[in-house]
Amino acid sequence: MLGLRLDGVSKSYGKAEVVCGVDLDVSQGEFVVILGPSGCGKSTLLRMIAGLEDVSAGQIEIAGQIVTHLPPRRRECAMVFQNYALYPHLTVRDNIGYPLHVAGVAKSEIKARVIEVARIVSLGDYLDRKPSQLSGGQRQRVAMGRAIVRKPKLFLFDEPLSNLDAKLRVQMRAEIRQLQERLGVTSVFVTHDQVEAMTLADRIVVMNAGRIEQVGPPTEVYRRPASRYVASFVGAQPMSFLDGFLSSDGGGLEIPGAGSIPLGFTAPPDERGRPVVVGLRAEAVRVAGPETGTLRGTVVFTEELGPHAIHHVQVGAVEVLAQGVSGTLLHDANVLLSVEAPVHLFEPKTGRRVEFDPALAAA
Ligand SMILES: Nc1ncnc2c1ncn2[C@@H]1O[C@H](COP(=O)(O)OP(=O)(O)OP(=O)(O)O)[C@@H](O)[C@H]1O
Ligand SMILES: [Mg+2]
Repeated sequence: MLGLRLDGVSKSYGKAEVVCGVDLDVSQGEFVVILGPSGCGKSTLLRMIAGLEDVSAGQIEIAGQIVTHLPPRRRECAMVFQNYALYPHLTVRDNIGYPLHVAGVAKSEIKARVIEVARIVSLGDYLDRKPSQLSGGQRQRVAMGRAIVRKPKLFLFDEPLSNLDAKLRVQMRAEIRQLQERLGVTSVFVTHDQVEAMTLADRIVVMNAGRIEQVGPPTEVYRRPASRYVASFVGAQPMSFLDGFLSSDGGGLEIPGAGSIPLGFTAPPDERGRPVVVGLRAEAVRVAGPETGTLRGTVVFTEELGPHAIHHVQVGAVEVLAQGVSGTLLHDANVLLSVEAPVHLFEPKTGRRVEFDPALAAA
């Protein structure tokens, strides 16, 4: 049985289609992260799953039950919002117990459940406080407690960490994932933060303008982005894109005016000369000597990050990022860059990934 199935789910506001035929199967207990920029339809999709928004077309199934036209309270899912949506006049105890209260559960059972849940989210000592007397992380835990108290079949998270400072975000991220694993509840987590997506997800769903662009485990989305769009969205540093074409011997890429990049394999003869866009990640690019350096550029500035430095290198009209050794500041220096295979190749017109490597193309 699947934890969640979306089948052609669409949403239109007037003439504007903001979610366009989304198909997605989520396994029982799986943690899926929907990643995409502001306005791509993430919240709309989540709200349709929760039943807070009608679908314009398609079908939604939660834990084997078709829920497309059921009211939210009958879908057995719990949603955690960015602003926590806690009741300010209620104590932690009453906030956590609220969904049980609404469902008409007996007082004695509510009391017992709230104490159990408060222990799970480490709020046992805060039950009589109001939300205003809590830290951001504690408020987030109250929201989590309220979500788990009804033992839902599905957790829905809409950017629940974006109001927290960086350190707390990392901590709460780990707490959410541990809690989810312990409870084994299928989860859909929406974010526009790619680090959050990479660290939390069993699978990442990358959305672009209402459509799914790629679905896969974080490492796969990172290592084999299906499009230039995905490539530009995933990764700690932005990917650099250079225009080029496959060399006549099939072993590399010619970058006009800047040099070449080795492919690491030989492209088939009929592809040679074909124009492509090359995507380079900073960790694959190094400032190198004349033996290995194949691409000419000028260092514009260097960013010191601690464990390493990132050189911003002007290559033709494009700024290429190159990972360097911490403490090496280069400025206005003409350099050669070496590029480690495999590189990412994209179709110039469509932005789709192209795979010339027979081994990878077959995979
Ligand atoms: N009630 C509405 N009426 C008309 N358009 C809407 C409505 N709600 C959302 N939209 C539009 O639908 C699109 C998707 O919105 P949505 O809130 O799902 O985006 P999002 O991916 O969650 O963005 P963010 O990261 O900013 O939260 C946006 O262009 C938005 O303007
Ligand atoms: Mg949103």
